[in-house]
Amino acid sequence: MANILDSRSRPEAPRYGEENFDINQCRMPHGELGPSVIDHMNEGHRPGIEWAVAQIPDISPRFVLDIGYGGGIVSRLVLRRFPQAKGYGIDISETSYQYASEYDRYFIDEGRLKLIIGDVHDMPYEDGKFDLVISNASYFFWEDIRAAFMEIGRVMSEGAVLCIPSGRRITDGNYEKVRAETEPPMNVYRDSEMIGFMDAAGIDAEIVADETGEKGAFIGRRRRCHG
Ligand SMILES: C[S@@+](CC[C@H](N)C(=O)[O-])C[C@H]1O[C@@H](n2cnc3c(N)ncnc32)[C@H](O)[C@@H]1O
Repeated sequence: MANILDSRSRPEAPRYGEENFDINQCRMPHGELGPSVIDHMNEGHRPGIEWAVAQIPDISPRFVLDIGYGGGIVSRLVLRRFPQAKGYGIDISETSYQYASEYDRYFIDEGRLKLIIGDVHDMPYEDGKFDLVISNASYFFWEDIRAAFMEIGRVMSEGAVLCIPSGRRITDGNYEKVRAETEPPMNVYRDSEMIGFMDAAGIDAEIVADETGEKGAFIGRRRRCHG
């Protein structure tokens, strides 16, 4: 069987914004076009993820979680930044699982990364396990974002860092415009709403943005509340 990373062996999907692009492929990559959509995400998301990973404070995480790992680019970059860390990843898509298992094979074979198929709303990890949780471009598709953040707060240790790259800022001022341009099942939330969801989950978060405003991330810290 051809390697899932070999783009010559499979059809090319339309890119985000192009005619016939299927947003459901972003919600859950699938079918014969799924791997091509993931190629595009790994390539297109990379600059924003690199920037966001560089904004994570200088911590020494033992366990790192990547939620909605897609093609595995986030796990790869975060494990490079924190060479002592062990990575975990969870994603609902079988295609993402197959793709990322090849893309991040080096770390998996090294024993530093364990990927599973699963849902952010109900994760099979113990309370307080992770010192760092990161998730790029997945929260737009979570069915119950409040419950998802509560679950994220549950698996974070006291003082753990949360990094959610945010791409463009969605403020009260531009929310209606962004909302109108957004196609279901993708959801968008005001920056203040996002900070509220995290606060309710015991995470103090703020926005960090670059000088152009084009790159941004929510960076949060887990308050004390387990046990
Ligand atoms: C737009 S892709 C982003 C992939 C990757 N993080 C990146 O930055 O390129 C969104 C990913 O989130 C996953 N996802 C969507 N809903 C999820 C959920 N409820 N739980 C876990 N993963 C989910 C999808 O399967 C998909 O792989």
